[in-house]
Amino acid sequence: MKLLLHLSIFFAILFISLPSSYSCNSVEKNALLQIKKSFNNPRKFSSWNPQTDCCTTWSGVKCTNGRVTDLSLFSSKLYGQIPDQIGDLLELRSLFLTYLPHLTGNIPRTITKLKNLDSLILRHNNLSGPIPDNIGELKKLRFLDLSYNQFTGPIPGSLSQMPMLETIIVEHNKLTGSIPNSFGSFVGEVPNLYLSNNKLSGNIPESLSKNDFNGVFLSKNSFTGDGSMFFGRNKSTVSLDLSRNMFEFDLSKVQFARGIVDLDLSHNRIFGNLPRELIELRGLKLFNVSHNRLCGKIPRGGLLQSFKSYVFAHNRCLCGTPLKAC
Ligand SMILES: *[C@@H]1O[C@H](CO)[C@@H](O)[C@H](O)[C@H]1NC(C)=O
Ligand SMILES: *[C@@H]1O[C@H](CO)[C@@H](O)[C@H](O)[C@H]1NC(C)=O
Ligand SMILES: *[C@@H]1O[C@H](CO)[C@@H](O)[C@H](O)[C@H]1NC(C)=O
Repeated sequence: MKLLLHLSIFFAILFISLPSSYSCNSVEKNALLQIKKSFNNPRKFSSWNPQTDCCTTWSGVKCTNGRVTDLSLFSSKLYGQIPDQIGDLLELRSLFLTYLPHLTGNIPRTITKLKNLDSLILRHNNLSGPIPDNIGELKKLRFLDLSYNQFTGPIPGSLSQMPMLETIIVEHNKLTGSIPNSFGSFVGEVPNLYLSNNKLSGNIPESLSKNDFNGVFLSKNSFTGDGSMFFGRNKSTVSLDLSRNMFEFDLSKVQFARGIVDLDLSHNRIFGNLPRELIELRGLKLFNVSHNRLCGKIPRGGLLQSFKSYVFAHNRCLCGTPLKAC
């Protein structure tokens, strides 16, 4: 009798601890095993055992109702490439491959099969080749971070066709060309643009002036000509970094967004005067107009005299506090 009681408790516990009725989808399991294989089956993947359920025991894999929704691998010595089978994880919502210095090769074009992808984060790897030009087919993507790789070629114009996109981070690559014309009108909200440290060049399309960017970061490229399309009194711009390019426009003619916090225009060929309305910018934390061709008196008031003199230095003939008297 006692034994029977023990047995029934045993079975009750066994029943409660059975895994949920969903287990790993077999196509997706195969895709994951292919990824493991393309990295030469390293020790890091020892939990990816074909005999077990990929949804419950495989590290870096998360599922919802038996479908793989998140894949996250980072900070390790994985040698290899992203295989085409990544495109078989059809329910994937976030793909997170970061700080993998030996992850090489291209982004497979099959990536655009991942129609549910919300976040594509391939930061700090050693990926190369172009950003797939059809990446705009990822209609649910909100967050794109391809920074710190070796990507070459243009910024795909199709990025303007993604209704949910909030942020484009492609800093620290070797991208060429200018900003695509199509960025003059985004089908969704206007995303933040992080394009610094590339080999981008040429003029920026005038059509971008219609956009109300929150943050634009273009530092350390070779952009030329007009940069005034990013300014506007009624815009909600918080950060604007045009530094270390070859922009050449008249700063006297621009109007500043009232809420701007970071404004770095240094190391360009910007001419004209510092507009008097700069003293009305009450939230300014970073300000730098050094190494340009500005002239005239630094307006007195607001926060302008609270900045160090070097943020005004190396211009054609700027004068007045904190520089020398005019
Ligand atoms: C990145 O890839 C390049 C070749 O494309 C190679 O020369 C370099 O050593 C790689 N960097 C690392 C950290 O593996
Ligand atoms: C900015 O907004 C104000 C108030 O809504 C409006 O009067 C003004 O014309 C706008 N300025 C520009 C340059 O659009
Ligand atoms: C401009 O000055 C600011 C404030 O000191 C500084 O943080 C920033 O790095 C400078 N910009 C460049 C491009 O050197």
